Amino acid sequence: MVKSLNCLISAGPTREWIDPVRFISNPSSGKMGYALASEAYKRNFKVNLVSGPVLLPIEKGIYVTYVESAEEMSIAMMSQFNEADLIIMCAAVCDHKPTKMWSQKRKKADFPPSIELVPTQDILFELGKRKKENQKLIGFAAETESCEENAKKKLNLKNLDWIALNDVSIKEIGFESELNEVTLYSSSEKKVKLSIATKEELAEQIFDIITK
Ligand code: CTP
Repeated sequence: MVKSLNCLISAGPTREWIDPVRFISNPSSGKMGYALASEAYKRNFKVNLVSGPVLLPIEKGIYVTYVESAEEMSIAMMSQFNEADLIIMCAAVCDHKPTKMWSQKRKKADFPPSIELVPTQDILFELGKRKKENQKLIGFAAETESCEENAKKKLNLKNLDWIALNDVSIKEIGFESELNEVTLYSSSEKKVKLSIATKEELAEQIFDIITK
């Protein structure tokens, strides 16, 4: 029997808590990552999905690890990375977190006028450093300006095989939308523009390209 390949995918936003009722996050719906997980499952991959807090149904047969913070997402991704053949980092990880989380709700009268933030770990960069010959690593780039240039920088910096560029300044596509439009760039300098489509359709096209 042929052993099925392992696909590890991250999806959704992270939450970086300030106190028990407030957090820093972003509008990622998780739909693109979940669509990629379904597509991988259809193609007979063993799928491990690391999901930030989203309310999306999950297909039976896909293993899910639910996380909240960037730190939890990092632990989940690192611990499953070595067994994975194909890794897709689709999550919108918060780049910063508060230096501390108050254990009690901060009353509005006591709420500080500014909150000190520290960078979170760049999970994909760390995965790129650990990547082995037999592994394929795919990232996403959410950009609003100099899109191609910025996406290519991330492709190189994070040691990726492919990066999917998302121009999130266009309202009809990207964050929270049912539709998306991506351009894929490879480390071997290929460029493939995929036209606007549902996230399920794009997931299928993305898999056709990255598994070629
Ligand atoms: N990413 C990550 N860990 C972070 C931030 C981003 O793993 N702390 C991953 C995302 O999942 C995505 C890729 O890195 O696959 C690019 O994310 P993006 O938000 O576009 O860019 P950043 O690396 O955060 O850089 P910048 O904010 O400067 O554009």
